[in-house]
Amino acid sequence: MATNEASDKNSAGATKIEPAKGKLGVMVVGMGAVATTLVAGVEAVRKGLAKPIGSITQMGTVRLGKRTDGRTPLLKDFVSLADLNDVVFTGWDIFPGNMYEAASTAKVLDKDLLQSIRPYLESIQPMPAVFDQYYVKRLHGTNVKQGKNKRDLAEQLRADIREFRKKTDRQVMIWCGSTEIFLHPSAVHDSVAAFEKGLEANDVNIAPSQIYAYAALSEGIPFVNGAPNLTVDLPVMLELSKKNNAPVCGKDFKTGQTMMKTVLAPAFKARMLGVAGWYSTNILGNRDGEVLDDPESFKTKEESKLGVLDYILQPDLYPDLYANIFHKVRINYYPPRGDNKEGWDNIDIFGWLGYPMQIKVDFLCRDSILAAPIALDLVLLMDLAKRSEELRGIGIQEWLSFFFKSPMTPEGLYPEHDLFIQSMKLKNTLRHIQGEELITHLGLEYYD
Ligand SMILES: NC(=O)c1ccc[n+]([C@@H]2O[C@H](COP(=O)([O-])OP(=O)(O)OC[C@H]3O[C@@H](n4cnc5c(N)ncnc54)[C@H](O)[C@@H]3O)[C@@H](O)[C@H]2O)c1
Repeated sequence: MATNEASDKNSAGATKIEPAKGKLGVMVVGMGAVATTLVAGVEAVRKGLAKPIGSITQMGTVRLGKRTDGRTPLLKDFVSLADLNDVVFTGWDIFPGNMYEAASTAKVLDKDLLQSIRPYLESIQPMPAVFDQYYVKRLHGTNVKQGKNKRDLAEQLRADIREFRKKTDRQVMIWCGSTEIFLHPSAVHDSVAAFEKGLEANDVNIAPSQIYAYAALSEGIPFVNGAPNLTVDLPVMLELSKKNNAPVCGKDFKTGQTMMKTVLAPAFKARMLGVAGWYSTNILGNRDGEVLDDPESFKTKEESKLGVLDYILQPDLYPDLYANIFHKVRINYYPPRGDNKEGWDNIDIFGWLGYPMQIKVDFLCRDSILAAPIALDLVLLMDLAKRSEELRGIGIQEWLSFFFKSPMTPEGLYPEHDLFIQSMKLKNTLRHIQGEELITHLGLEYYD
């Protein structure tokens, strides 16, 4: 396998990247539909039972040099990524069942597939979680840590991490837990000192997801946030991230409806077509749908889903086209559909001389089938960031915006939501760290 050759050869301009040697430990917070589809999927791929479709790191390629050069390696052969056989999973959940039981409850994958990897899934037992029902109203679980205050709980998580560190060489933590209630940043999030005082005092503004992120970043471990929760987009976490070389990135996996939105909206803008309204609605019957049925959790998701259009369409620059968009997002809990969400979009657009037109999108998707490869790519690429001398100390990994509904950026910088700009940013970052020429698509050199 050529995986490590590229980084070892240190071509002109390449930055130093430690090779992906040994075991990569993936610590998953929340062993529900997404997490079990990720873990079972990785095991199925390792056993040759299925292909890792939807994963950029496993199936994607990157063009290098000129179009005439014919150099288009697989991404995983171009940069040093952990091999799937070296990935080891552990995690936490408020329900005590092992991963086989959790996957059976989630009902995303076929019974036959689960049966064929049953012993492996049964071997992964969730550790007791840090949880408080105040932050996720619809859940009641028993596999929960007890402690005298939030500081004590954070220390228990750090002890779990240290224990796992004995069995693995490098670690990444990924939040695949539920959507918490909508929270605002507060004084307790302003610095590590303030946050630690808040942990002692059981400050209500500190949600469980923040305690996990604090534990991971304090231990120097990259943290990925798959939910829209207020977790790492806080000064305290950025301080820890930079201090401990523990990368962070955006939040809320960009899977179905929002992925389509960030493809269609840039097309309208590129063609200078106006948008009068965009009504997005979903029916969804899994546990995530049940949690989002609580208005306080829905508010967190709604903010994340609503953000994208404004940034892409830039109504300030194009008031005639986008200043008066009516944008609505609805998620309706509808148990018969399980994880197989249906998302409808009705888009009212207008063209030449203001004449109206309509577009309807009906996406019958599978939520966790779309999310699992994103989760896999993120843990592998965050591990790469941690091994990269240039990337590990910068905090936010904006080049991973591609995977998120809410990409993170430094203060004062607006996020890029256009999926193809995000894809270019991702691949150019990989070219950059490997010392390859960036691709601008100018192409004048072909006409010299
Ligand atoms: N599936 C998708 O397409 C998609 C897309 C974007 C974001 N997400 C987000 O990913 C998250 C997971 O989605 P899912 O469909 O797997 O949901 P799920 O309800 O099946 O799984 C979430 C799991 O997290 C556990 N949990 C909740 N709080 C916890 C805590 N504090 N500690 C440990 N475990 C905890 C729950 O018990 C549950 O098992 C949700 O926040 C969802 O909004 C999902």
